[in-house]
Amino acid sequence: MKNNETPTSLIIIFGATGDLAKRKLFPSLYKLYEKGRLTDRFAVIGVARRSISNDEFQESIQESVKSAAGKEEHVQEFASHFYYHSHDVTDSDSYSALKKLASELDDHYGLNGNRIFYLAMAPEFFGTIALHLKKDGLTEVDGFKRLVIEKPFGHDLDSAKELNNQIRTAFQEDEIYRIDHYLGKAMVQNIEVIRFANAIFEPLWNNRYISNIQVTSSEILGVEERGRYYEKSGALRDMVQNHMLQMVSLLAMEPPIKLNTKEIRSEKVRVLRALRPIEGEDVHNFFVRGQYGEGEINGEHLRGYRQEPMVEEDSNTETFVAGKLLIDNFRWAGVPIYIRTGKRMGTKSTKIVIQFKDIPMNLYYQTEKTLNPNLLVIHIQPEEGITLHLNAKKAGENMDATPVKLNFSNKESDGINTPEAYEKLLYDCMRGDATNFTHWDEVALSWSFTDKISAVWEKTKENFPNYPSGTTGPKKADELLEKDGFFWWPITDLEVTNC
Ligand code: BG6
Repeated sequence: MKNNETPTSLIIIFGATGDLAKRKLFPSLYKLYEKGRLTDRFAVIGVARRSISNDEFQESIQESVKSAAGKEEHVQEFASHFYYHSHDVTDSDSYSALKKLASELDDHYGLNGNRIFYLAMAPEFFGTIALHLKKDGLTEVDGFKRLVIEKPFGHDLDSAKELNNQIRTAFQEDEIYRIDHYLGKAMVQNIEVIRFANAIFEPLWNNRYISNIQVTSSEILGVEERGRYYEKSGALRDMVQNHMLQMVSLLAMEPPIKLNTKEIRSEKVRVLRALRPIEGEDVHNFFVRGQYGEGEINGEHLRGYRQEPMVEEDSNTETFVAGKLLIDNFRWAGVPIYIRTGKRMGTKSTKIVIQFKDIPMNLYYQTEKTLNPNLLVIHIQPEEGITLHLNAKKAGENMDATPVKLNFSNKESDGINTPEAYEKLLYDCMRGDATNFTHWDEVALSWSFTDKISAVWEKTKENFPNYPSGTTGPKKADELLEKDGFFWWPITDLEVTNC
């Protein structure tokens, strides 16, 4: 349920000395504070194992805000709302002490018993924490209680179910906010508006007019320091199960009867239910995996994935996935949706290309060999905008056609994976709006889709590495489209700045 009142709550962050808290959560809360979206009636308890004082914690908040948000104004005042609790996640006494602190802050700031528990830490503790929160009385509150949980939500469907059962002992489904930070990105949220607020797109948004859709999310970064996690995850679990399938659901869903959480989520779920399962031998025909080898990006020589810290030297983990999805319903039957994501590619970019079918007869084929198809490009990041590719008359005497682009560009967002998505999501959670969080049904359906692919990949060893760092991925990813008579629209040609 949406409301625009400034929320009042106690936010308890587990994993408060970690990277996510420092880089995303504190700066995002600060931005909300600066924009007047948090009144003085809020408090944060940072929870972590380390033993540090409140003063030290507040200093670290100030540092994180100054370095991430680059601001000094009211930082001290903002940080004064933060308290630290050194905690053992398995010990009930520790939860009792936390409960006492929470009640004191509740009284002191007049928080109406509203509590948000944010789990920004290793997922193996999620279940234990949720069970203790209930058992040790932290969830007995007069106001609302909400659980915000970071990905990965399980490792496969079975482990996700187990985790879900654990957290459901303490929280109802509508109290659980599963983060998918892509859903906080402005242009991902815009997909819905572009589709449902414009009379010109929705009538064409189906298999009669669209020939294929391409969703690409490419990264320049490698696996960095996350080898231990990534070895067990790979790009399929890290990006496809969540971010990529979420974007596909938003692109393919039917118009909801109302713009509320329940209706939007239920339309997204219907897309995931209609997603054709790819299993057995078909996995080799519909999906391509890759792993980066050494290579060069921006003049820098980079090592291959297998040489990264905490990665096996004969690792079979994929850092790249391309796939062809089919949605078996009336709207989408026969329209391939190609997805592609990878690390250590030449460009950092997330883009969606909607390619429309060719016109029935080309009157201009004598002047131009072929007409370019119409494309609608949704630029998710780093640029934010939309571009419509059309054909128009070339200047001059002849009736030659030439491609033109209609372009709308938001000002460039101030960095990649900025706290902005978190800022929006935190604010939504405080207001009780779960629309941009993933429902359990979406999580379960997505796992059941990707599990069938991992089952095949885990049994067969791929000839890795199969793409050099700095490229667009393995050749087989191009062949995936060529078989259908298509090709990936080159990301660099689609940039807003090229218009
Ligand atoms: C995260 C993945 O969910 O998304 C990372 O775990 C990935 O591996 C990141 O780098 C990409 O996010 P963004 O916002 O930079 O596209």
